[in-house]
Amino acid sequence: MGSIVITGAKGQLGQQLLRVGADQSLPVVGFDSATLDITDAESVRKAVTPGSVVINCAAYTAVDNAETDEAAAFSVNEAGPRTLATVCAELDARLIQVSTDYVFDGTATSPYETDHATGPVTVYGRSKLAGELAVHEILPTASVVRTAWVYTGSGSDFVSTMLRLERERDTVSVVDDQIGSPTYSADVAAGLLELAAYPAPPATLHLTNAGQASWFDLARAVFEGVGADPDRVLPVTSAEFVRPAPRPAYSVLSGAAWANAGLTPLRPWRDALAVALAKCT
Ligand SMILES: NC(=O)c1ccc[n+]([C@@H]2O[C@H](COP(=O)([O-])OP(=O)(O)OC[C@H]3O[C@@H](n4cnc5c(N)ncnc54)[C@H](OP(=O)(O)O)[C@@H]3O)[C@@H](O)[C@H]2O)c1
Repeated sequence: MGSIVITGAKGQLGQQLLRVGADQSLPVVGFDSATLDITDAESVRKAVTPGSVVINCAAYTAVDNAETDEAAAFSVNEAGPRTLATVCAELDARLIQVSTDYVFDGTATSPYETDHATGPVTVYGRSKLAGELAVHEILPTASVVRTAWVYTGSGSDFVSTMLRLERERDTVSVVDDQIGSPTYSADVAAGLLELAAYPAPPATLHLTNAGQASWFDLARAVFEGVGADPDRVLPVTSAEFVRPAPRPAYSVLSGAAWANAGLTPLRPWRDALAVALAKCT
């Protein structure tokens, strides 16, 4: 295999790919936004070589800001993957484009299969879907991998925030009417690296930890995981916690396509959370 080029290498997922890739002695090379701008073809050409596999972790991920910053969201999330796909086609390189549950409308009641109709309801979701379509159009060998509810347990992610609030407050109110699959970034990274070595991957895949939960369930599990009383987490509805971009009510992604391709399914979310918490406490 040629090198595995990680874009957005200072982001949450990019950092994990570099760490897990190094642990597995894989030829991972990371580029942050200062060293590789995915919207700039010349910048991309300097990093990609024939035979390499590009894993695109660069994205505009500020979901609420995107509602009023559509041009910036589309520049990074549509024009960026389009540029990467064009250069990968020129150089005979592969591309794995990371995408999101936000391409769906969130009204399903059973896990979304990869071929379920898309219907994003936010600017972020529309921009990520446009990126998926651009990649498929330009580079038929590319894979789009949708993930969701990714945390590491550091920075300002949900798990890290719950750990902080557990220390700072008596009670914490968390929405209980949004359902998804909490997903550990290190597990997504391992899955993407397995896919990078896979000879003929499907065009669209879903990759999350197994099982489902509400944010309320996840917050309770974080409290339990650090020996705190989970009853200090109180349920609220999304209507009581309005944000600029509506969150999908249901975000569970089916892992059937991933498993059917012979790739290793990710473990149950509670098992992954236990590992993540052990690293942050
Ligand atoms: N986090 C989640 O829960 C989640 C869920 C579903 C899907 N995803 C997808 O997973 C992927 C990785 O997300 P993440 O959580 O790792 O996001 P992140 O932490 O926000 O990282 C994104 C990175 O992209 C970089 N970037 C922005 N514009 C760029 C450009 N033009 N060229 C190169 N790099 C650029 C950013 O660098 P600067 O900070 O320097 O701008 C940042 O380091 C994204 O495709 C996202 O849509 C994430």
